Amino acid sequence: MVSVVHQLFRTKPAEEIVAEGGHGVGGDLRRTMTLWQLTLFSVGATLGTGIFVILGQAVPKAGPAVVAAFLLAALTALFSALSYAELAGTIPVSGSSYSYAYATLGELVAWVCGWCLMLEYAVSVAAVAVGWGEYLNHFLHDLFGWTLPAAIIHSPGDQGGVINLTAILIVVLATWLLLRGASESATANAIFVMIKIVVLLFFCVVAFTAFNAGNLTPFAPLGVAGITAAASQVFFSYIGFDAASTAGEEAKNPRRDLPLAIILSLGIVTVLYVLVALAAVGAMPWQEFDPERTEASLAIIANRALGSTWPGLIISFGAAIAIASVVLTVLYGQTRILFAMARDGLIPKIFEKVDPRRQVPVANTLIVSVFVSLLAGFIQLGQLAEATSIGTLFAFAIVNLGVLVLRYTKPDLPRSFRTPLFPITPILGVIFCVIVMLGLAGITWLAFILWLLVGLLAYFLYGFRHSRLHRRVP
Ligand code: ALA
Repeated sequence: MVSVVHQLFRTKPAEEIVAEGGHGVGGDLRRTMTLWQLTLFSVGATLGTGIFVILGQAVPKAGPAVVAAFLLAALTALFSALSYAELAGTIPVSGSSYSYAYATLGELVAWVCGWCLMLEYAVSVAAVAVGWGEYLNHFLHDLFGWTLPAAIIHSPGDQGGVINLTAILIVVLATWLLLRGASESATANAIFVMIKIVVLLFFCVVAFTAFNAGNLTPFAPLGVAGITAAASQVFFSYIGFDAASTAGEEAKNPRRDLPLAIILSLGIVTVLYVLVALAAVGAMPWQEFDPERTEASLAIIANRALGSTWPGLIISFGAAIAIASVVLTVLYGQTRILFAMARDGLIPKIFEKVDPRRQVPVANTLIVSVFVSLLAGFIQLGQLAEATSIGTLFAFAIVNLGVLVLRYTKPDLPRSFRTPLFPITPILGVIFCVIVMLGLAGITWLAFILWLLVGLLAYFLYGFRHSRLHRRVP
């Protein structure tokens, strides 16, 4: 009994995790990513449905103070981002918070964290792929007047759907890019990110021409409660800033570049979000945001501002590109987290097999893509998408705790970045994560608890016995 408890909370030394970095079965990952690529990688994973769709849903909750909601959500993300930066600079591998938890809080917590990351990555990417299909359809309709048949753009049971082929299409395209190699994917992502930033700036310029300061008063018609409710909702739009932490083993200079990439990407998206939100509520009275067409809010505002339909087309195009790059980067992140878990023996070895020629985990990428395609093609993902936020916040809380633990257990470990105002920032990080988690719906909590129970079952049936740490000790 004592030895079981001992195993559950056994940590894997940070030095050992770092020493294993980059190596898989059959070959090594290739170190090609620069600071610039890592930053764009995190921005690629972050800027997507949140700003293009969720902004429209959050405005009716907070009024013009949606701008404050974006800032509040950014603050929540910032505490955790600082903790991510510290751990990514100390343990620069590919497992993100899973690896950090293994080094600090023990195997069971690491497993739970890796399991939660599947909500942040695999499940969310399926939801985002479904959103991409919707945008593609709108774009084709607005540009050519075509509408794809309902049977292939919705999941079964949803508006006559049979199989959501459009969602599967984007997953297949992203998989194809990922199999070409990390550097090729990073280049494609960099182009996508530039396009989406330019489109959002285009929106700001157009919307500011119709800016009316009167639309901003009263600023917070629904009070502080409205702002916090909207902040919980728009928190989703910040998820992804941590994606660079899944690329530690493919970064050229991970100790220096990972912390910088994480903080820079959060800074870039925060500035963009606040600008876009301000431009949006300044250009259109908040009461006129259509709750039925939240995905089109930015396009509607731009069309109104210029009295034409072409600005909306540009914005739909930008949204389709934005969401495609989220699919690409988040899919990548999931494969690398599984890679790290397989190396520790917690999931089957096939996930750590690296193709010696392409230097990517091919089988892993294909398995993840099939899984995500099935989710995206056949399941309605509304509630699962909400579960994304709760899983992510849980993982963030663990990272904040990890910083606290590692500073006390391994004070002398080389750290390329130290979170300022320690221990206040990681403690605030935990508190903020818990507050936002408590703001989520009861059904989301239920889904989360069920997910955790399935994860624990999987751990005790497989990971517990196959763990490399377990096998090493007599
Ligand atoms: N932050 C990502 C998005 O908004 C998940 O699409």
